[in-house]
Amino acid sequence: MVTPNNDMPPIPTTRYAHIVGWGMAVPETILTNDDLEAIVDTSDDWIRSRTGIKERRIAGETESTASLGLKAARKALQVADILPTDIDLIVVATSTPENIFPSTASLIQNWLGANRAGAFDLSAACSGFVYGLDMAAQSIRSGSMQVALVIGAETMTRVMDWQDRGTCILFGDGAGAVVLKASNVEGGVLSAVLRSDGSGGEMLGIPTVGSEDLYHSDFSTHGHKMHKMHMNGGEVFKFATRVIAESIQQALVKANIGIEDLSLIVPHQANLRIIQAAARSLKVEPELFAVNLERYGNTSAASIPIALCEAIDQKRLNSGEYAAFIGFGGGLTWASMIIQWTGAKTPDARSGINQQRRQFSYMLVRWRTQWKRLNQQVSNFLEQITFRRSRIQRLRDKVDQL
Ligand code: ACO
Repeated sequence: MVTPNNDMPPIPTTRYAHIVGWGMAVPETILTNDDLEAIVDTSDDWIRSRTGIKERRIAGETESTASLGLKAARKALQVADILPTDIDLIVVATSTPENIFPSTASLIQNWLGANRAGAFDLSAACSGFVYGLDMAAQSIRSGSMQVALVIGAETMTRVMDWQDRGTCILFGDGAGAVVLKASNVEGGVLSAVLRSDGSGGEMLGIPTVGSEDLYHSDFSTHGHKMHKMHMNGGEVFKFATRVIAESIQQALVKANIGIEDLSLIVPHQANLRIIQAAARSLKVEPELFAVNLERYGNTSAASIPIALCEAIDQKRLNSGEYAAFIGFGGGLTWASMIIQWTGAKTPDARSGINQQRRQFSYMLVRWRTQWKRLNQQVSNFLEQITFRRSRIQRLRDKVDQL
């Protein structure tokens, strides 16, 4: 039995959505708290004691939300031993998309050569990854899809106001991805609770097209800078500590298990003090939580999949064990999920061949993209020649008429 994502009674199902692949990617460049002292009036001691963060990663000139997402996705496909052409759906949870459209998901779909996949971006700030995972899991459980790729990818440092010490010290860049696959074996995604309270929307956001008009009927800018993040840290802190425990408890009830059954909680990596407060509310040891924010800061929608990947590497989850994910952030939104861990597929005779086929697919996409570009340049050139010829012909005709 699984529970639908509302307060309806459970519906029977024989299809389950299991996490069978995972991968992460973070930029090489590290920005430490000491580095930040040269940018804003702050100190390593203040940042560490108030947040737990020591350093964060910053995307380089050639890196972007899509390129980090692509790297994480390729690793997840490799672990899952799945071909790009097997993917039915790609969801990219992000607050820092490459464009309003085309979506970052469509860019990644093309670069992977996932020619049979639908793709879209999902905007639910730091809760986005859990929202996306639940949407993908529901699509699989309904029978509509077999394989979904869910990515959380961000370049938050590109939307920072680097004069605002209350926000720029918190965020970093990175991406994490998981592959979800249909199975008739019980387990995988067991329950989810998704919530939103738009009345708190002004607490944190990144204003873009039309948002000033929406928020302020007097057309005042309210101190918000377009395309830069603003946040009321204190209010967000109170909101986060309130919803984490409540939301996890609700998801546990839906999954029909207790807090004592959990082997791991992977929270959004916003602030160590928020995680410690959640542990107290849930009456569990803080060690139950996967925490890596000291090295990456808050990577918004990417923080849960990155922390999950590292927890798996550290062998903190064994097959059959239960884990909870909890995200919270702009919207306001929050979302929790309970999963039963499946583990990686044991490599078989086809794994090596599949790896070669994936590499070939990535190469083919690069060639196809270059070919398309070349084609476009040639047709532009030919168009110019035709245009010039017709102008010359018109001039000749005029001369002949004289
Ligand atoms: N360095 C030094 N001093 C600072 C800094 C800084 N970087 N930032 C603020 N201060 C000062 C303030 O000016 C203030 O000084 P004052 O007392 O003289 O006025 C003092 O430190 C205390 O400021 P507070 O804002 O009250 O500090 P607080 O303890 O609340 O910590 C923080 C601020 C870290 C932002 C905290 O509120 C927080 O983590 N909030 C939650 C953020 C969060 O979880 N976001 C998640 C969602 S993100 C998303 O959805 C994209």
